[in-house]
Amino acid sequence: MRLPEAGTIEIAPSILSADFARLADEIGVVESAGVKIVHLDVMDGHFVPNITIGPPVIAKLRKYSNLVFDSHLMISEPGKYAGRFAEAGANHITFHIETASEPEKLIDELHQLGCTAGICLNPETPVEAIEKVAPLCDMVLVMTVHPGFGAQEFMPEAAKKIAQVREIVGPDVRIEVDGGIDPQTAPIVVGYGADTLVAGNAIFAKPDRIAAINAIREACK
Ligand code: DX5
Ligand code: ZN
Repeated sequence: MRLPEAGTIEIAPSILSADFARLADEIGVVESAGVKIVHLDVMDGHFVPNITIGPPVIAKLRKYSNLVFDSHLMISEPGKYAGRFAEAGANHITFHIETASEPEKLIDELHQLGCTAGICLNPETPVEAIEKVAPLCDMVLVMTVHPGFGAQEFMPEAAKKIAQVREIVGPDVRIEVDGGIDPQTAPIVVGYGADTLVAGNAIFAKPDRIAAINAIREACK
């Protein structure tokens, strides 16, 4: 399972708003809608004020899904745990620039572990903070909410950074957006140059997940 080459719009459902007691089934439903990526939000109660899942859950889910496991590490010491996530079956690993003292080294390590690498920046973090490392990544993740919770309101000012990131990385690096993405906001971020759209609440809070995914796809056309 490999992150698709840049150049296509991909929806990456975030399981944060899914039924955690039925995760494998929930992932199965979005897989049947034809998505290629599922976004797994990992929170440590330290970098963000919430706690979710870790490598043991990811390892169990791996047996039930062929989707690209896009692991968004909202944790204080990503370098310490990267190997554990790779071993559990994460295909793409994103860490926050706010948490990494040697981001270049960690990107290198992720590649050596056989994963694609992502760097993420919080809404208040300027693009300059990732200027050097963004071109080394396979995907850059721009947060359009404060990380920690689903179903928050989209921050239009933070989304504007996407255009700046696109200028730095060119066409070959994916740009993912996370937070408040729905059929209304998706075309805005695609207009700025994003190609990978994380959506939690807009998919898993709806009774028909497949229709919800299709609504976002349609809105981007
Ligand atoms: C927030 C997470 C997101 C979250 C997005 O900290 O990183 O992935 O699930 O949720 P929505 O789409 O509901 O804003
Ligand atoms: Zn996320």
